[in-house]
Amino acid sequence: MRIDAAAAFSLGDLAVFDATHWREVITTASGAVPPALAGRAFASDGTRETLPLDDLGQRIARALPPDDRAIFAQARQRAITTNERESARRTVLDRLFWELTYWKTPKEYERLTAGEQIHLGALDVARVDGAVVLDAGAGTGRVTLPLARRARTVYALDPSLPLLRLLDCKLAAAGLRNVELHRGAFRHVPLPDNSVDAVVACSAFGPDEARGGKCGLDELMRVTRPGGRIVIIWPSDPTWFIAQGFTYTVLPGHLTITFPTLEDAWEVATRFYGLAATSHLDATARPELPFHVLGVKPPRDLCWLTVRK
Ligand SMILES: C[S@@+](CC[C@H](N)C(=O)[O-])C[C@H]1O[C@@H](n2cnc3c(N)ncnc32)[C@H](O)[C@@H]1O
Repeated sequence: MRIDAAAAFSLGDLAVFDATHWREVITTASGAVPPALAGRAFASDGTRETLPLDDLGQRIARALPPDDRAIFAQARQRAITTNERESARRTVLDRLFWELTYWKTPKEYERLTAGEQIHLGALDVARVDGAVVLDAGAGTGRVTLPLARRARTVYALDPSLPLLRLLDCKLAAAGLRNVELHRGAFRHVPLPDNSVDAVVACSAFGPDEARGGKCGLDELMRVTRPGGRIVIIWPSDPTWFIAQGFTYTVLPGHLTITFPTLEDAWEVATRFYGLAATSHLDATARPELPFHVLGVKPPRDLCWLTVRK
């Protein structure tokens, strides 16, 4: 469902992350980009071609914890062919496509989610009215804003500073004051035990460690009070959640991706969706796309669990 990451970004774009985020994404622990792979992408041969990236490679190395730093540094020094280095770069960019989108082009991401509206019946399942709710992986607030209109307090958690900044502006513009923004990730939620009535995570939490995994789920359970609910909206792998005791529900109704203008639809389709989508827009000349054209299920399914302790 997306275009070539190496066409959208270059390795130098990793400079957009801060030290905390380099540690978050280049790590042996979560597997997003293992330090050995990142090291091969930043391998230097001292030529003019690799020189501009040397400084960035050194800054990244300094940010990593000692074990990962050693692996990264060794991989950078090992002699590899140009093809091997290019292949490592493509893989890194591919794995970090969404992270780079969030950090370098957050407005493009905002434009994408503005079209992909989710089924808000998920908030009824989460029982959010008057409640204290954690929006985990909040992004630019596709769920945070509707949540804030119904909940007492919302904690919006996300590792991406540019997305949190955009969310902050949107909340201010909407006059919503009951949302606390927190920078952080699923595996360490900066909230006390049993402090929320519900957790929602939309298109954010998944089985692999980089997107939460078992550690992240334990954290979501820890902060949820007994009897509270965890609701995973639009899960990419419902079977994993079912194996963890969740119930899978598909809400009724029809959803279509709808953009404010045809120009918006074109920009998003060209950047994120690819040929099937642009051909559809060409044929219809309307700023709408059915989910089936993208080969994606519509965002009206969820996995939910009532927490027992
Ligand atoms: C596809 S976006 C969805 C954002 C928002 N929930 C929505 O529906 O528009 C995925 C979000 O998860 C966040 N994210 C990625 N890895 C994360 C992690 N390990 N812990 C918490 N959030 C994470 C990203 O920064 C991004 O904002």
